Amino acid sequence: MKHGSEKETGMVGDGYCERSLAGRTALVTGAGAGLGRAYALALARRGAAVVVNDIDAAGAAETARLVESAGGRAETAVFDVRDGAAAEAAVAAAGPVGILINNAGIDEGKKTEEIDEASFDRMLDIHLLGCFLCGKAAIPGMKALGGGAIVNVSSINGMIADDTDPHYNAAKAGIIGLTKAWAKELAPWGIRVNALAPGHVRTPATTLRGAERMRMVSETRIPFGRYAEPEEIAEAAVFLASDESAFVTGQVLSPNGGEAIVGI
Ligand SMILES: NC(=O)c1ccc[n+]([C@@H]2O[C@H](COP(=O)([O-])OP(=O)(O)OC[C@H]3O[C@@H](n4cnc5c(N)ncnc54)[C@H](O)[C@@H]3O)[C@@H](O)[C@H]2O)c1
Repeated sequence: MKHGSEKETGMVGDGYCERSLAGRTALVTGAGAGLGRAYALALARRGAAVVVNDIDAAGAAETARLVESAGGRAETAVFDVRDGAAAEAAVAAAGPVGILINNAGIDEGKKTEEIDEASFDRMLDIHLLGCFLCGKAAIPGMKALGGGAIVNVSSINGMIADDTDPHYNAAKAGIIGLTKAWAKELAPWGIRVNALAPGHVRTPATTLRGAERMRMVSETRIPFGRYAEPEEIAEAAVFLASDESAFVTGQVLSPNGGEAIVGI
């Protein structure tokens, strides 16, 4: 990526980086850990002011601290993404949000017989309803701004099967459907909507599933032979959030180390 003029570049953290998102506000949900934290840091390095959402106040505060100590701008917005009124209040407090990364999520590692209705609803609500409500909160401001970028975090498991969490697969597939519908509906306002569908990434959520599972998945399913680091996925999110992807909408970008091209 080429460096811009002096006006477009600046010192952030360890060195120069392109300030292509200067002047924009980005809301990142579930940014108190893992991938969401990496998205917040990467967007801030490009100059965006970041609104760090999480249901976990301590995690959100730590991400905001990391952004600020790297020279970026951040504020926290602690709410549950299933709470549409709270999402609207956070957007109203932040001012128009030009970038929304719908990232908050959970997984459970359950087989079908272990998933009751409450568990199914919770999975669908955090992922799919959460995306919808945070998008609904941000879209009016994006229309007023004359454009925006929404990145809905799906998963490789929104496209191919896994051996657990069928309700997760269903939610992540639903996110791809929502992404395409919004991309069409919102194109006239210059709002681009894309899905990011990572493969396996080393985060608190995946580390919790144990080193043995990580080794097995790496060796048997991922041609690169390893999990991604969150920072590698964050670069893909930055691309979808920035003007470098100006003609990209309604697409699914899946950084997965080749996992989707092999059988299991
Ligand atoms: N890690 C992977 O391998 C992987 C792969 C594909 C997709 N994803 C998706 O990426 C996203 C982030 O995953 P991760 O591995 O970083 O998970 P993580 O558990 O490390 O972080 C998720 C964050 O979301 C927050 N959160 C959970 N429920 C919330 C809610 N209702 N409202 C607000 N915040 C909430 C959590 O507190 C946590 O800080 C998820 O949507 C996940 O499904 C992860």
